[in-house]
Amino acid sequence: MGRVYIKTFGCQMNEYDSGKIRAQLQSAGFDATEDMADADVVIVNTCSVRDKPEQKLHSFLGRVLPQKRVRPVVVAVAGCVAQMDGDRIYKKYPNVDLVFGPDAVPRVREMLDAARTRRILDTEFLAGSDYPFPTDLDPTAAGKVGAFVTIQKGCDNKCTFCIVPATRGAEVSRPADEVIREVRALVDQGVREITLIGQNVNSYGLKVPGMPTFADLLRQVHDVPGVEVLRFTTSHPRDMGDDVIRCWAELPRLASHLHLPVQSGSDRVLRRMKRFYTRARYLEVVAGLRSARPEIALTTDVITGFPGETDADFEETMSLLEEVRFHASFSFRYSPRPGTPALRLEADAVPEEVAQRRLERFQSRQRQIQLEEHARLVGTTVRVLVEGPSAHDEGVVCGRTSTFKMVNFPAPAGLQGTHTHVRITRAFANTLRGELADQPAVL
Ligand code: SAM
Ligand code: SF4
Ligand code: F3S
Repeated sequence: MGRVYIKTFGCQMNEYDSGKIRAQLQSAGFDATEDMADADVVIVNTCSVRDKPEQKLHSFLGRVLPQKRVRPVVVAVAGCVAQMDGDRIYKKYPNVDLVFGPDAVPRVREMLDAARTRRILDTEFLAGSDYPFPTDLDPTAAGKVGAFVTIQKGCDNKCTFCIVPATRGAEVSRPADEVIREVRALVDQGVREITLIGQNVNSYGLKVPGMPTFADLLRQVHDVPGVEVLRFTTSHPRDMGDDVIRCWAELPRLASHLHLPVQSGSDRVLRRMKRFYTRARYLEVVAGLRSARPEIALTTDVITGFPGETDADFEETMSLLEEVRFHASFSFRYSPRPGTPALRLEADAVPEEVAQRRLERFQSRQRQIQLEEHARLVGTTVRVLVEGPSAHDEGVVCGRTSTFKMVNFPAPAGLQGTHTHVRITRAFANTLRGELADQPAVL
């Protein structure tokens, strides 16, 4: 049938969706290619969470569309920008053959077939229970050590800065037996580490009577033979119940890491963001997690310059960073998004340069903390699940600790997929360097 090239922007949801698109097109006879110039179908899976990612779509189309003048290539725009802005993209780029939102992913084969004869715009949301979570496995999963498994689509929260509820629609939990089936199939292909994904995984199953809770689901996945490491993302602090926290005390293969986006350390800002937790509650969750699993590493998301954020509010974010000592964070300047409630707060907009200064201060302190935390590991031995050869260094492999630290060390590539003990020799802000250890790690 031909070759398909998929460019993915954005979060794990998009990465996962791209995998499902690849899977469906493979069963329709397409091969995946890494070379755009060699592809018969080019799909760009887009993100609109901030302004910058959205601009990436426009520059990407600027590169791919001229190719249509010299060869027949089908061009599709998928994902969150397509969902939000499908009409405009469809009109602005008459050479784009297909525009479809996240809910249309299960129909990609039919759409591509139809796109041979006409242009297609499909940004319809399906009613919750009608959404068929695609089941074909991403063909690139075989041979990888880790894989994502979606347990939920959409989001029912209304954080005032966030465009995701508009791009992904209402929250739908995926039936547990489907989740388990996909986990089993991945493990059969050699996958060792499973990351359950959703925008707000802790609310899994809560809205459907009789469905397991997220903690129940975690236990079920944890017990699938062959799952050596279990992770999940993303958790909303409001929904982080004691039943989930207890899992860290009881499930040994649940990784010692949690990404728990806080957004701000100021109650006033959290209220205006409609996050529905306080700084004190967030710290209570952190204390609970640390008592269940003392070595747990916490990472977070932070927004600086949300409308109305004062210097004093920002200091609260800085002091929260000191108190929790996150091991890493994704931090961004607030980016106003179309149709989001925070647009109504525009009168309180924080000047860009102020938001940027705060961001740089936060990032610089975060980096120091990372370095300090990593330096403490030098001389210790850690247990690493080897992911594969390092992209940069010959004879070096890379892998992650349970706490999600990337470790590079010289070793044969044959160790891929095994748990290996590594003595840490050097610390950098984002990675660690080590050597094969002759003694096993303590943890
Ligand atoms: N569902 C997750 C949660 O509740 O935290 C996060 C989802 S969102 C895709 C990922 C991160 O993008 C958020 O945690 C937030 O920090 C950031 N983000 C979302 N909207 C943003 C905006 N308008 N400006 C800046 N950052 C934003
Ligand atoms: Fe966006 Fe909030 Fe939903 Fe996360 S929980 S996706 S930040 S609305
Ligand atoms: Fe972006 Fe959509 Fe994810 S907006 S962050 S790709 S849910």
